[in-house]
Amino acid sequence: MKNILFKSLEESGKILKEYMDKDFIIESKDIISNLVTEVDKRSESKIIEIIKTEYPTHNILSEEIGAINDVSDVKWIIDPIDGTINYAHGIPICCVSIGVEKAGEIIMGGIYNPFSGEIFFAEKGEGSYLNSKKIHVSEESVFEKSLLVTGFPYNTGNNPNKPVEVFSAIVNMDIPVRRLGSAALDICWTACGRFDGFWEYNLNAWDVAAGYLILTEAGGKVTDFKGGKYSVYNKEILATNGKIHSSILNIIQNIKK
Ligand code: IPD
Ligand code: CA
Ligand code: CA
Repeated sequence: MKNILFKSLEESGKILKEYMDKDFIIESKDIISNLVTEVDKRSESKIIEIIKTEYPTHNILSEEIGAINDVSDVKWIIDPIDGTINYAHGIPICCVSIGVEKAGEIIMGGIYNPFSGEIFFAEKGEGSYLNSKKIHVSEESVFEKSLLVTGFPYNTGNNPNKPVEVFSAIVNMDIPVRRLGSAALDICWTACGRFDGFWEYNLNAWDVAAGYLILTEAGGKVTDFKGGKYSVYNKEILATNGKIHSSILNIIQNIKK
């Protein structure tokens, strides 16, 4: 499956590169700022074509097309462009993300930013890699010295979890927090130690399936906002180097009260 995963990432990555400087169709989905482009759809079709040619009975869960269910216990979880708003504005902070779930467990994941040439990859029990180099989460244990990243849901204004309040509490402690606009890359950049922690509300399985494995195989910790067991079907994610996990968790929990 690894070769098909890489082939899918490389071929879809070529499509992202090819269309970046061209005119392409951009539409809004449920909310005006939630975009889908012609390139998301082209990328998705190419990935599904590659997977289905090799594995006709495997299941698919992909952002734009939804679920294609068959008889297999394998499911490919696909985000054909993560960071579509960036992509639509010509900002090369975006990627293709593909996770492979087998019997309910994520066993493989790959995330490719064709503009930086970085491919993050992990296989269950085999560690995580950035291109051919093994990666590990950071060693930072002093919360005040950490560099964090977050994202805001499309319904930020009405979100009961108060994402802006959590963000504001942390930046008011003079801790730097970035907002890149691609949850999959946020997780990968935490996995390789550029960031010390990431949290976000309202994500979907395709945003996080590959990243979840990449971060955990890189030694990181992932939980929900109660500090409990995480599933990629959870809407909320807290993903860190493990050492500053409880500091962010405490802030999230105190603000939600
Ligand atoms: C989005 C990105 C963004 C996050 C949004 C996601 P998309 O995915 O990951 O960083 O803040 O919640 O929906 O729509 O670009 O695939
Ligand atoms: Ca996404
Ligand atoms: Ca997407």
